[in-house]
Amino acid sequence: MERVHAVVLAAGKGKRMKSDLPKVLHRVSGQALVTYVLETLRAAGVEDPIIVVGHGAEGVRAIGGPRARFVDQVEQRGTGHAVMQALPLLPQQTQQSDPVLVLYGDTPLLTPDTIRALLEQHRSSEAAVTMLTAELSDPTGYGRIIRDGDGRVQRIVEDADASSEEKQVREINAGTYVYDPAALREALKGLVPHNAQGEYYITDTVSWLLSRGRTVSALLGSPEETMGINSRRELAQVEAVMRRRILEGLMDQGVTIIDPLTTYVHAGVVVGRDSVIHPQCHLEGTTRIGSGCVIGPQARLVDSTLLDRVTVVASTVEGSIVGEGTRVGPYSHLRPGTQVGRFVEIGNFAEMKNATVGDYTKVHHQSYLGDATIGERVNIGAGTVTCNYDGKGKYPTVIEDGAFIGSDTMLIAPVRIGKGAVTGAGSVVNKDVPPGALAVGVPARVIKYVTANTER
Ligand code: UD1
Ligand code: CA
Repeated sequence: MERVHAVVLAAGKGKRMKSDLPKVLHRVSGQALVTYVLETLRAAGVEDPIIVVGHGAEGVRAIGGPRARFVDQVEQRGTGHAVMQALPLLPQQTQQSDPVLVLYGDTPLLTPDTIRALLEQHRSSEAAVTMLTAELSDPTGYGRIIRDGDGRVQRIVEDADASSEEKQVREINAGTYVYDPAALREALKGLVPHNAQGEYYITDTVSWLLSRGRTVSALLGSPEETMGINSRRELAQVEAVMRRRILEGLMDQGVTIIDPLTTYVHAGVVVGRDSVIHPQCHLEGTTRIGSGCVIGPQARLVDSTLLDRVTVVASTVEGSIVGEGTRVGPYSHLRPGTQVGRFVEIGNFAEMKNATVGDYTKVHHQSYLGDATIGERVNIGAGTVTCNYDGKGKYPTVIEDGAFIGSDTMLIAPVRIGKGAVTGAGSVVNKDVPPGALAVGVPARVIKYVTANTER
């Protein structure tokens, strides 16, 4: 069976980005440019791509995934030179006809359907190379497809080398090609760096193959998909397209998005059906949202998991897990390591960090729970603070099921409030309070037992 080999060019610095970060590691909708290309290949059924790395090679290798193979292009001498570096990893004599797909790491909008269509056209045309092109209203910066009077492709001319007449051509080279492997090897040998940039251009293989009587085939793709990123302006343009695609994908799966213009969702975020996203929301990183949730207005969720029917209004939730039916906000901040149970109420300037909160507990009104384990059906009064940090170390607080923490209680950790215990308003608790006890004052002392049936 035919096997498709893929070579992804990702070694360039991206000078026009004016950045210390290699271009293909810049992010669109939270994900590196080259990751989109690799995902598209996988979705098109093309496995084990060869990635050509150079600038920031370590970073690119780190996100390539376990199945990718890497080759180094130590000096970046052009796209043709980059493909040459991959030749040792491509099949030699035996599987000669397996096509080689060459594509760039800076074109994240390319879709699996287009890759499949290009491969299909390559098979049926029996060409030496089949390339993807597009008609752009503004082709500035791209290589132009030069055709003869009969519309046959003659060559590709780079923007830097184009005459003013050639610059008028609106059909551009998308930078996605399928080669016959033997033709690719031969054509690469024929490249010379005689151009404005002094580089070995992969694009010159087209005229070289034509001059040897070989067939070159071109597939006209969509302008949107072929957008390559060279500058921060183009990064923002691609971001807008990707954002729209992600939101449309969610809507197609049954998510209501009230205002797509002010909704920002990273690639890979999952949202269950019948969830509603109100305006001004940001869903980022590895966030997963269940079904029937109400998000926003004004929520930022980062690397968090929300189970079904959770509500988050005007709050930030980071690195947290929130159980079914729980309400968060307005104006709350759940920080990393927080795990909230079912039907919990968290609101009005409550902050949590590394806290576990049991089912049906209520935490409102300017409170802080850090390094804390809170049981079920606990009431945290207004202004409660777990004083978890003494300037040197962090200490835990445990509040057992059914406890009632009076307003403005200071819990000097490490400390434990027993099951069903109560603290008086304004108490400063620096010793454990036994189950069922009522502790008041500064420092707090037990004055009586309020619940009879707890284990003392
Ligand atoms: C390239 C094409 C141009 C096309 C455009 C489409 C060439 C000569 N030109 O131009 O015809 O219209 O893409 O977006 O191919 N790279 C390396 N090693 C190198 C040089 C580049 O790995 O030595 C990688 C870059 O990291 C990048 C990709 O190849 O991912 C394309 O390089 P870039 O410099 O962006 O080419 P363009 O000028 O955009
Ligand atoms: Ca480019």
